[in-house]
Amino acid sequence: MVNVPAGVMREFQEVGRDLYQLALVTSHGGNLSVREQPGMWITGTGTMLGRLAERHISRVFPDGRSEGPQPSSDTVLHHTIYAVTGANAVVHAHPRHAIALSFETDKFVPGDFEGQLHLTDVPVVAAGPRQSEQIAALLESRLVVLLRGHGAYARGKTLWEALHWLTALEESAQIEAIRRSRRQS
Ligand code: 13P
Repeated sequence: MVNVPAGVMREFQEVGRDLYQLALVTSHGGNLSVREQPGMWITGTGTMLGRLAERHISRVFPDGRSEGPQPSSDTVLHHTIYAVTGANAVVHAHPRHAIALSFETDKFVPGDFEGQLHLTDVPVVAAGPRQSEQIAALLESRLVVLLRGHGAYARGKTLWEALHWLTALEESAQIEAIRRSRRQS
């Protein structure tokens, strides 16, 4: 087990619990990381974000070495995001309305005020061998990016900020779904 600084651990636990309670992840889905030079703290693979404890957090170094549990299967992607953006925290979740929209478009443009204000537009990346580089490169200029049919990756100065962008995305996507269903009826 690694020794995670108390403030970082609290943020992991509170943001993880919010993600689960807001139904932005399944019981065992999603992952979180915080930059810690050199490298990062990241949730272990298969951990329950709603019930995080210190034993679920891995310390990963830039050369790929890790301490603690087996790190998230998305570790290389988090690493790439830190390498090309100024982010200090990354959240990956499965916002269901946003994922549904991602099947239909290459770019989601929120129609509601809050989404326009915060997100402007949200690119959708297709799964493939270059998805990590593409997501990381887009996160240089965007706050959140969708991976088609899979989920969203948000960056922030803190996990709280990345959570803000994820919840903004899902709120906008849900509003879009309501508007579309009204147009059809
Ligand atoms: P890990 O548990 O390996 O982080 O994967 C969770 C996930 O949601 C991948 O998309």
